[in-house]
Amino acid sequence: MSDINQARQRVSILRNLLNHHSYQYYVLDEPEIPDAEYDRLYRELQALEHQYPELVTLDSPTQRVGDKPLDGFSQVKHEIPMLSLDNVFNEEELSAFYKRVKDRLAIDEPIEFAAEPKLDGLAISLLYKDGVLVRAGTRGDGTTGEDVTHNIRTIHSVPLHLQGDDYPTLLEVRGEVFMPKAGFEKLNQAAIKNGEKTFANPRNAAAGSLRQLDSKIAASRPLAMYCYAVGKVDGMDSVETHSEMLNHLLKWGLPLCKERALVKDIKGCLEYFEKMSAQRASLPYDIDGIVYKVNRLNWQKELGFVARAPRWAIAHKFPAQEEMTVVNDIEFQVGRTGAITPVARLDPVFVGGVTVSNATLHNMDEVERKDVRIGDTVIIRRAGDVIPEVVSVVPGSRKQGAYKVKLPDHCPVCQSDVVREEGEAVARCTGGLFCQAQRKESIKHFASRKAMDVDGLGDKLVEQLVDEKLIDHVDDLYSLTIEQLSKLERMGEKSATNLIDALEKSKSTRLERFIYALGIREVGEATALSLSQHFGSLDKLLAANIDELQNVPDVGPVVAAHIVHFFQQKHNLEVIKKLREAGICWQNVDVVNQGDQSLAGKTFVITGTLSAMSRDEAKRLLQLKGAKVSGSVSKKTSAVIVGDNPGSKAAKAEQLGVEILSEVDLNNLLGR
Ligand code: IVH
Repeated sequence: MSDINQARQRVSILRNLLNHHSYQYYVLDEPEIPDAEYDRLYRELQALEHQYPELVTLDSPTQRVGDKPLDGFSQVKHEIPMLSLDNVFNEEELSAFYKRVKDRLAIDEPIEFAAEPKLDGLAISLLYKDGVLVRAGTRGDGTTGEDVTHNIRTIHSVPLHLQGDDYPTLLEVRGEVFMPKAGFEKLNQAAIKNGEKTFANPRNAAAGSLRQLDSKIAASRPLAMYCYAVGKVDGMDSVETHSEMLNHLLKWGLPLCKERALVKDIKGCLEYFEKMSAQRASLPYDIDGIVYKVNRLNWQKELGFVARAPRWAIAHKFPAQEEMTVVNDIEFQVGRTGAITPVARLDPVFVGGVTVSNATLHNMDEVERKDVRIGDTVIIRRAGDVIPEVVSVVPGSRKQGAYKVKLPDHCPVCQSDVVREEGEAVARCTGGLFCQAQRKESIKHFASRKAMDVDGLGDKLVEQLVDEKLIDHVDDLYSLTIEQLSKLERMGEKSATNLIDALEKSKSTRLERFIYALGIREVGEATALSLSQHFGSLDKLLAANIDELQNVPDVGPVVAAHIVHFFQQKHNLEVIKKLREAGICWQNVDVVNQGDQSLAGKTFVITGTLSAMSRDEAKRLLQLKGAKVSGSVSKKTSAVIVGDNPGSKAAKAEQLGVEILSEVDLNNLLGR
């Protein structure tokens, strides 16, 4: 045999050996050989590849770290969107989720769930073509993420080539990249020693590592990954359950969380939750809850999705994390809609993985209810990513001299009057867009990731732009010039160019993002999506009246009034016009309810338990046909739909002479 052929053979043997031992070590946690032996094999492979560069392949274990940093990140599109999960925080909410699942599936037998720890890291999608890792992307906004292949390749537990011979021709695997606690501690210790900045928590450290253009940096960070789902799969026999699919993934060499389990019924979920709560502190990685997924895939399919989350899975979060500290002051902040929020300035305290020095007190009612005074010792809660809040004053801790705050009569930013409407908990600045705080907040919101997603236009920069009088309103953003921007402090020509590019890029958006970006009161992401799906175009939304708006799922009279009010304001219409003139565009959306509107103009009330669907589902189906669904019975109600064990609403209907319909009648109405 020629030298090169001999080398080729040895290279192949070495790669198989190294892959096998990596899998034993990183995935199964069951090493079979000492590290020194692994290193010897690795060096032998390196030497052969050095001697015969033509034998180097992309999936060789020596090729995990690239030699040159990238110039920038490119985008990856997720053909199947990467979703998020709805949360529950207690047994009651979990039972409601379980009931919704059962109702929707219309089954009575106990349901089996795949239970997994909810890892606290970043969602990543891996794409394998013919077994070779060709792409890895972050979740991004769910549809578009960033290509981080170079960094993911450095994670030893992620196979560069799948094992075995029965993997699908195309496999997209999803999972969480995280930094194990021990590695995180070490990394921070080293940073302290070198006088560098430390990371607040393992999640930030993992995120920071993946955001590197130079894969050498990621390679030096102790990252790990656990897979928990698949996206697109081609060329594979179908499987029946989620757990079966996970077993395939493990067999192909992918890393999975060992703590996963199959459980039955609510009882099984709760037992698993208790078990993991007890283990949480001693697990080698951070988790912030448990995910339960309906195991049967045909049921998952039947249950489907709402907005951004599946109906067949739920995250059961661990109780909020709390700490004690002292309130040094209470100040008032002005939000985007003028809401004046009291904020407690605190002695910094480490809670929920970050240092907190401000906590919201929501509104003056809350301040009074909790009787929080300056100087008090309080309990601070930071649950997940939620804004830290003051939970309560520590009983008996009040010192002499602790004093109350009063709601200011004038806006702390623009001095306009502050009003608090009858029955409203929130006080507001009346300055509107005259108030610089409101202007700033509305621009920050407009540029934010879930809105127009203007990369690089952070809060600080917006403040600077408004303070320097370069912009007044959101549409002014699109007339900024490189020249203007590069004159700003801490802004070179390169950053200025990048920002102009990002603004340009943001112009092509989606209708729901644009609606959300406008910052209409109480119109969040989900409502913006419903509005875009219902009306299909901005012009139709602009033309809608209060009644028409209430036909949109989730839109009640209050939200509808906010929307109408927003579009009645001349300056808002002016801003929208200018934005469109600046070139902001989107594709109109396929209208979801184009079809049958036979129930338009009717108002229904649903009471009691329906057997074939949940009340929410019935509401949605009625709304799709143009009906309104209300929570209370009045003379104007067209009919009350009565399920099992109805509440007082059925009696009220009878009393008022409102028509009463059974579930069978409902199905007839819906044409089911
Ligand atoms: S499943 C369609 N399983 O939680 C369901 N997600 O809040 C998609 N996460 O974006 C997610 N551990 O980053 C799933 N065992 C697990 C998870 C998990 C952590 C994260 C994931 C997702 C987020 C949703």
